[in-house]
Amino acid sequence: MNTRRKTGEDDMSEIFGSKEMREPAPSEFIPKHRTAAETAYQIVKDETFPQTQPRLNLATFVTTYMDDYGTRLMNEAVGVNFIDETEYPRVAVMCGRCINMVANMWNTPEKGAWKTGAVGIGSSEACMLGGVAAWLRWRDRRKAEGKPYDKPNLVMSTAYQVVWEKFCQLWQIEMRTVPITLEHPTLDIEEAIRMCDENTICIVPIMGVTWTGMNDDVEGLNEALEAYNARTGYDVPIHIDAASGGFILPFLFPEKKWDFRLKWVYSISTSGHKYGLVYPGLGWVIWRDKKYLPADMSFSVNYLGASISQVGLNFSRPAAQILGQYYNFIHLGTEGYKEIHTNSMDIARYCHKAIGKMHCFENYSETLDNPLFIWKLKPEYEEKANWTLFDLQDKLMQSGWMVPAYTMPKNIEDMVVMRIVVRQGMSRDMADMLIQDIHNAVAELEKLKYPTPSRQSHIKQEKQKGKVYTH
Ligand SMILES: Cc1ncc(COP(=O)(O)O)c(C=O)c1O
Repeated sequence: MNTRRKTGEDDMSEIFGSKEMREPAPSEFIPKHRTAAETAYQIVKDETFPQTQPRLNLATFVTTYMDDYGTRLMNEAVGVNFIDETEYPRVAVMCGRCINMVANMWNTPEKGAWKTGAVGIGSSEACMLGGVAAWLRWRDRRKAEGKPYDKPNLVMSTAYQVVWEKFCQLWQIEMRTVPITLEHPTLDIEEAIRMCDENTICIVPIMGVTWTGMNDDVEGLNEALEAYNARTGYDVPIHIDAASGGFILPFLFPEKKWDFRLKWVYSISTSGHKYGLVYPGLGWVIWRDKKYLPADMSFSVNYLGASISQVGLNFSRPAAQILGQYYNFIHLGTEGYKEIHTNSMDIARYCHKAIGKMHCFENYSETLDNPLFIWKLKPEYEEKANWTLFDLQDKLMQSGWMVPAYTMPKNIEDMVVMRIVVRQGMSRDMADMLIQDIHNAVAELEKLKYPTPSRQSHIKQEKQKGKVYTH
């Protein structure tokens, strides 16, 4: 059985009796000698051993729990490359079916048997594809009108996810950002419209803003754009970044109009690996109709056994996620998605209420649009506290929870908040344990006689800005 021990090693030695377990793990060069598979496995496995338990990671939006059948299907497909359509034609068919289902979930008006969309490795790729399509449509229109097309811009709020900064930087699109403020915690529509001009490729509202969990008002934006486009003769459309909200709204708030029911929504992207409930990485982007997907974005290759057209930034990609998504659609149905997300929402509301009741905290928003929320220290409490939310993050990590503390985007960057993302895999019992751990951590932090280093640096920064401390 054990045929790969180094020369001279005892084949019978136990894994933890082996020489490798006494040596540092390889980190610079590929080792010259072989290592027995079970020993190598143990070394690699143990690298991940002290990490947080994925389901206690309340920082991530990404799926950390799938049932046994979904997990089995994905594991069984681990060697399948999605791009080899001639070899695995049924994967391509399943992908097309998923695109159809996502498009119909968002009320596409497209009539054909196959709706227009693409799979991505996550929302980032899906957002990029939506953005590139908007840029190419704008460029083609400008070319046709004989107008310059060298200064494209895109408008969204400062609460954008980093992918949009990447997109604008990589494609050299000017990023025009509307500040989110305490008065306008989501996209300020008037201000967004004011920032548009003939070079605006699209406005990007977000459903499930990464920083706050809130939704931008797409219906209001659509109305404002209707008036703006009519007045100016421009054709500024909407791409919705629905990374999280895309799989929440259709099940929990089906009556809310935010998707292709609105005229100016030309494309929508989401993460299948967030509330689509599939392990990473999977994203979807759907266009309103094939005429909104520029032909320049399809590339054909003929060296895989047939001529294959694809839309995507990547070439090879795992197929397992597509099987996982298709399995979830069949197994859960809309009823199952609704039940799971209703539970996540209820548990998020339960935590929101419990945290809002604590003497030291206040929630950022009164209600929840998605199963996640942020909160901060009450200003009068913070003023006298010897600790910050960064200290609370560290304390909670000691009990295994990952609850991130961070500063808000530009204009309200002085505000430190904490966020909880509730997903499938978080039960009410776990929420009770978390709330108890937060109470315990706060009680310990309140015993501190002197400010923590994080509090000291916060006070220093505030003094530099002119704040006077009276105690
Ligand atoms: C609003 C938003 N857009 C895009 C992304 C990027 O998603 P992904 O990690 O699936 O690439 C995220 C990730 O959290 C997000 O919240």
